[in-house]
Amino acid sequence: MLTRGNAAAGHVARSARCDASHRASRGSHRASRGSRPAHYRGKRLLDLAILSLAAIPALALGAICAAAILISGGTPVLFRQVRAGRDGKPFVLFKLRTMTGTQQRGDAFPEPAGITRIGRLLRRMSIDELPQLINVLRGEMSLVGPRPTLAYQVLRYDPRQLRRLRVRPGLTGLAQVHGRNRMSWTERIEWDLRYVENQSIRLDLAVIARTAWTVLSGDGVAGHARFDPIAQADERRSSVPEVTPRIRLAKPDIGEEEIEAVREVLTSGTLTGGPQNAAFEREFADRHGAAHGVTFCTGTAALAAMLLAEDIGPGDEVIIPSMTFVSTATSVAHVGATPVFADIDPRTFNLDPGEIARLVSRRTRAVMTVHYAGQPGELDQLRKTCADRGLLLLEDAAQAAGAEFRGRPVGTFGKSAMFSFTPTKNLTTGEGGLVLTGDRDTAGRLRLLRNHGQARQYEHVLTGYNWRLTEMQAAIGRVQLRKLDAILARKRQNAAWMSDRLAQVPGIVPPYQLPHASSPYMLYTCLVQRNRDAVLDHLLRAGIEARIYFPPAHLQPIFAGRGARLPVTEDVAARMLSIPMHSRLTADELARIADAVEEAVSRAARARPSSHPVAAPRAAPGGLRQPTTARPAR
Ligand SMILES: Cc1ncc(COP(=O)(O)O)c(C=O)c1O
Repeated sequence: MLTRGNAAAGHVARSARCDASHRASRGSHRASRGSRPAHYRGKRLLDLAILSLAAIPALALGAICAAAILISGGTPVLFRQVRAGRDGKPFVLFKLRTMTGTQQRGDAFPEPAGITRIGRLLRRMSIDELPQLINVLRGEMSLVGPRPTLAYQVLRYDPRQLRRLRVRPGLTGLAQVHGRNRMSWTERIEWDLRYVENQSIRLDLAVIARTAWTVLSGDGVAGHARFDPIAQADERRSSVPEVTPRIRLAKPDIGEEEIEAVREVLTSGTLTGGPQNAAFEREFADRHGAAHGVTFCTGTAALAAMLLAEDIGPGDEVIIPSMTFVSTATSVAHVGATPVFADIDPRTFNLDPGEIARLVSRRTRAVMTVHYAGQPGELDQLRKTCADRGLLLLEDAAQAAGAEFRGRPVGTFGKSAMFSFTPTKNLTTGEGGLVLTGDRDTAGRLRLLRNHGQARQYEHVLTGYNWRLTEMQAAIGRVQLRKLDAILARKRQNAAWMSDRLAQVPGIVPPYQLPHASSPYMLYTCLVQRNRDAVLDHLLRAGIEARIYFPPAHLQPIFAGRGARLPVTEDVAARMLSIPMHSRLTADELARIADAVEEAVSRAARARPSSHPVAAPRAAPGGLRQPTTARPAR
């Protein structure tokens, strides 16, 4: 029996699951909503007609099974579980209980040892699924469709896979009749997507007939997953053998100079709020041609401060790209404003200036552009559009230290700009951030916000925070700033070599470089035309750290319910792959990375159909086309 505590915990877990499912789905629903109706006409009628024919035998069979369960193991007869339904809406799925009571209670993938004798029989014939006819009657499920999944599985779908939620989940489906248990997880989803795209009465009747045959022939167990395939795939990934020496995605360029600088600060006795911060602010601002610099303990705190300094808060909207690290969006949410997600330019992955007209509202206060991988987007257009509409332009330049647009350093194009100094950045202080601004008042407000709103000792004039950077970090930052040009030169050289090499690999598109901008290559992100996940797996197995930067922010569980539809972002997200690109890569390592990418791509091309077949290249804003295999202009 559940104790009060357990029951409460169970309830919380259940509602969390529901909530997650609901949020994921509302986003996915809107993300995938197209012109096509979700179901063919007459599908519900077909369900009800077949149900009425099957009602009497199903009731009789159900009663016999219920009696058998009661006699062999007592109550409960039914097992209920929250699943993600159409559009991800949660519903309670019914099954006949096949496990011992304790095992089945909340366990989606219970131990096989917990299956009861009668349960084994029911599963063999798939009769345990019979009570889902109630779900069909209630309109939560259909007879044919993708099998309903658990909420957490939905959260892991990529944007394309989310399309399987467009229809009601099914008691059986195309994947079932193709031997579901013998397929990989992604293959099953592919069959589901095929069903969603090709549904018809004929197809449903064929699947139902085939299912009946499968069940009667005793192969029904194939329809019943006894393990968590997603978790297993994750396990496989995390158990990718470590091959030494491993080539890291990023590697801070830290040496004796930084160690010596920290030693000096530690012996000076001033560990915070001292001369190192003041000097770092001045030097960083000078390097970027800005009037003022204000340090912060993190880039995320700096972003929030930037918004607060502009008095952006509840009721305001800020337009941001979704192709970013989530904190661009969460910092807007933290100050009580609403992030409005915009689509991107498919070449640079930066905010598409054309999106502003689509998304602007009476509440829009600012546009926060993100310089993806450090490369600025079309800043001329952005500035003009913002000026025309009376919007503030802010820069999330987290990745862009040292980048330039038309020969002018980034960080000076908007009212203010944030830089981050985490270890993957070209300039690192471990953790840290800095805001550049040309406006004296803004700089003053930023300083107050950073330090408890303290104008003079113990005189607090606004509700501030402790967002200070330590003196040790500022000292490291100063040394790093002196090295920045050398770091950037090496990275640009490495990136140029890599792009030349990868331009000869069919199926890979090296990063695009705007002709009038210079990228600091904080990331080196390619597009993989086919089977991106297989390419990623291969690289990891070869000891080369690769990553997907970034799963879009608008599809994160915290934002999925906001209804953003960003086809370019979602298409890019399904194909992008960042490979190592740091200043300490040797020629030998560069060659190993390129060889491994080439091999991974050719293996992936020979592999079974991709889980992310690539959409036709999209037209870029201004009529340009996304480059395919040709090397982009640099
Ligand atoms: C684009 C972008 N914005 C914001 C941040 C947040 O910066 P931090 O991690 O310093 O808080 C990052 C960090 O990687 C980032 O890449």
